[in-house]
Amino acid sequence: LEPQAVVNPFRLKISDHPGRIFNFIDKPEDQLLFKNLRNNGAPLLLELGSGSGGHLIERGRLNPASLVCGIELRYKRAVRTIEKGEKLGADNIYIVRVHAHQVPEIFESKSLEGIWINFPDPWDKRKKNRILRPDMLRQYLGLIKPNGFFSFKTDHLEMFETVLGQIQNEELLDLERVIHDAANSEEYLKDSVETEFESMFKSQRLPIYHLLGTRQYRE
Ligand SMILES: C[S@@+](CC[C@H](N)C(=O)[O-])C[C@H]1O[C@@H](n2cnc3c(N)ncnc32)[C@H](O)[C@@H]1O
Repeated sequence: LEPQAVVNPFRLKISDHPGRIFNFIDKPEDQLLFKNLRNNGAPLLLELGSGSGGHLIERGRLNPASLVCGIELRYKRAVRTIEKGEKLGADNIYIVRVHAHQVPEIFESKSLEGIWINFPDPWDKRKKNRILRPDMLRQYLGLIKPNGFFSFKTDHLEMFETVLGQIQNEELLDLERVIHDAANSEEYLKDSVETEFESMFKSQRLPIYHLLGTRQYRE
């Protein structure tokens, strides 16, 4: 007997949120709908791997005139984000369900106000797919407008140092902050927006690393 196909209930729920969740993977026609949304010319902010959405929703609240867009593959996290956002009246947050590596094909170069990457999965699990592969970091940063920002938080020291080294070697950003003990940094805490994974790592007393920089183009 063939095992019965198990349908992820959140996969079905995605279509309950048209105009909020753009499912590029299962519904290519969503690409055009998303393009139309962007035609209104509002500033664009992006979070890669937005997870359950706590950070995205708060950023939406803090940036009411912007489109604040999360890139997230998991159905459940995408749906939860939008459901939570609706309850809180966040009407400027959106999810695009697409692999982060496709992001440079979706957005024009130098078109974003800024990008956040918070606690991406450790890269030793799936090297090829990791969000922050060096060639991909270069491409993501090419999407940011001159003087736009890039913010990266992780609990993974080796990943942090590698990303920091690449940014410095390739002179991709003017670094404003490089913080190795975020939980005890006043500078960090004064404007941090905590993510779900961050809360978990903090409760385990794991160190949190943060870098923030401004995009510069030196060519
Ligand atoms: C460790 S979680 C962190 C979530 C959130 N940023 C936080 O700090 O709470 C990483 C998230 O990235 C998503 N993700 C992993 N690889 C991805 C990819 N290639 N494209 C888009 N999302 C991805 C996962 O589904 C997951 O929700």
